[in-house]
Amino acid sequence: MNRPFHGGNLKEASLKYKMGRDEFIDFSANINPLGLSPRIKEALLDSIDLALCYPDPYCDELKREISTHLGTDKENILVGNGSCDLIYLIARTFNPRNCLILIPTFSEYEYAVKISGGSCQFFKLSEEKDFLWKKESVLKRLKGEDLVFICNPNNPTGGLVSKEDLLFTVAEGKKRGATIVVDEAFIDFVEDSDQFTLVREAVSNGNLLVLRSLTKFFALAGLRVGYVVGAKRMIKELEKKQSPWSVNGLAQIAAREALRDQNFAEKTKSYIQQERNYLKERLEEIEGIEPYPAAANFIFCRLTKDGINSSLLAEKLGCQGILIRDCSTFRGLDNRFIRIAVKKREENIKLIAALKDIFGE
Ligand SMILES: Cc1ncc(COP(=O)(O)O)c(C=O)c1O
Repeated sequence: MNRPFHGGNLKEASLKYKMGRDEFIDFSANINPLGLSPRIKEALLDSIDLALCYPDPYCDELKREISTHLGTDKENILVGNGSCDLIYLIARTFNPRNCLILIPTFSEYEYAVKISGGSCQFFKLSEEKDFLWKKESVLKRLKGEDLVFICNPNNPTGGLVSKEDLLFTVAEGKKRGATIVVDEAFIDFVEDSDQFTLVREAVSNGNLLVLRSLTKFFALAGLRVGYVVGAKRMIKELEKKQSPWSVNGLAQIAAREALRDQNFAEKTKSYIQQERNYLKERLEEIEGIEPYPAAANFIFCRLTKDGINSSLLAEKLGCQGILIRDCSTFRGLDNRFIRIAVKKREENIKLIAALKDIFGE
């Protein structure tokens, strides 16, 4: 089994298109276009000497910050080297025999389960229903699986499922002995995210884990921080299998400052909302591109023009220094789909101009 393929690989793009890494406009990775907040930057520079020391292996201070932020106890939280690290830890700890994955979605769930010796069943979401689902639909597919991965909002399709539908699935999962993992890596970008997150329910539900990432919203992809929220008993199990010093000292500092930076969070939310609307409206104007409803900081699109598929389009844009995510490598999708991150206005304008040129407008 090959390792999953991801966007944001500037090294590969730079070799392929013979351009410098900083010459690209990268719409293939969904990172906050506002970049690092000044507060995080300053804290990192002030703390650079921490690079000399071992970090706190328990991330105590950061856990306290996260638990205050979420209104949980510290013991309900485990911090990891990005949320991807925690996906692997969950698979390693709970050793699922059989896992249900709603596809198309983030490809690391499948890989993590399979390398832990488990097998995967796939529930293919319907293109006609914008890849969204209602409570009964997951339930009908649940036939003895002991772990279910649900991504909300979903990557790459961008759709958001209601709390009611998720909680129904969690409750039914419990009756059938299944643990539900809800990956909320992109939920900070969602308007009224409080109405969708399951972090509070994860504390009191013995079969629910919620994953969060700080790498996208706070632009810490290179430093790596994520966390999982769950019942204390489940968190303790996970902790036993985690390797020591998983989260480096600078990442712990950056994450602590990120969670205290309310201003940056509000600025990001309103910027993304405004630019997502702008980008989606411009994409809708191009004949041959159909954007789907988008809840996070990226827009998933179907290509409908004869002769233009996702790899051809990615190649044509790549030659111009513009990277998009060709979604044909996602299980359950084909070469009619692309994903575009929401970036700064001037970058979005360049993408639209290049697309109009390719689509002959
Ligand atoms: C849905 C989803 N979950 C988790 C991750 C992993 O994020 P990180 O390990 O950077 O926190 C990604 C990365 O793209 C993702 O798309």
